[in-house]
Amino acid sequence: MAIGVFDSGIGGLSIHRELAARLPDADLIYLADQAMTPYGGRSGEDIVALTRAGCDRLFNEGCDLVILACNTAAAVALRRLQQTWLPDRRRENGRAVNVLGIIVPTIEAATGLPWEQEAEPTSDKIERLDILGIFCTPATAASRVYEIEIDKRRQDLAVFSEPCPGLASAIESDASEELLAEQIRDHVAALTRRIGRSPDRAILGCTHYEITAHLFRSALPPGTPLIHQPGATAEAALGYLRRHPEFSPGSGGLRRFLTTGHAGRQNGLAERFWGGPLIFEHT
Ligand code: DGL
Repeated sequence: MAIGVFDSGIGGLSIHRELAARLPDADLIYLADQAMTPYGGRSGEDIVALTRAGCDRLFNEGCDLVILACNTAAAVALRRLQQTWLPDRRRENGRAVNVLGIIVPTIEAATGLPWEQEAEPTSDKIERLDILGIFCTPATAASRVYEIEIDKRRQDLAVFSEPCPGLASAIESDASEELLAEQIRDHVAALTRRIGRSPDRAILGCTHYEITAHLFRSALPPGTPLIHQPGATAEAALGYLRRHPEFSPGSGGLRRFLTTGHAGRQNGLAERFWGGPLIFEHT
């Protein structure tokens, strides 16, 4: 059986690359919903329906485990699908299938705490706030998932999400470095103005943005730590596979890249990031 990796477009390749590095023999099938990208400005209902369709396709391709390599899908759709759709899908399939997100491992990396460890609310004065800036799509920012979940665990961590409308589409459509650098500088400046100072740490909370991490690094004050969502997600997936031997990642080293958009090569930005040609099949 194989592991599926799903995103609205090429952003999830940032997660896929880390998984492939850690699991060279696993069978991995990537699906980009490029016919419908971007998700970040869509309604919640749309995002739930598209994410369900993407997972369904990957299950039908033989994946047992799907990783939503998309913050927007994970923030808006994952809980709904786990509660309302997956139990039926498991019954229909007659085999174990599951969908994992990327927000839980990212929050564990940001807080330094296991997910289960929520803090008792305290009325003590907090002496110093560590400020965490999150660059993400409008839908992820509107969900407030990072603010809500981090606040349950670390009240000394103040979270500011900065929606970056249009940035994922610009990356998806191979915009020039200059244009991307300018957009990213504007988003960093907007967040800095809103906070009143620079964030102490940042998360690129849209998997597309990892492809331009070097541009975020230059726009933020030198040395600002970036919490690495792809690494955290890949490690969490490995831990999950160890705890759940019923999900076999396969052993043929299969690499398939599917898209609901146009078959063929991907854009230059994605291929430079990936480190070689990426040939997608239409599904
Ligand atoms: N890469 C996605 C994310 O992590 C979605 C970008 C989009 O489709 O707007 O949020």
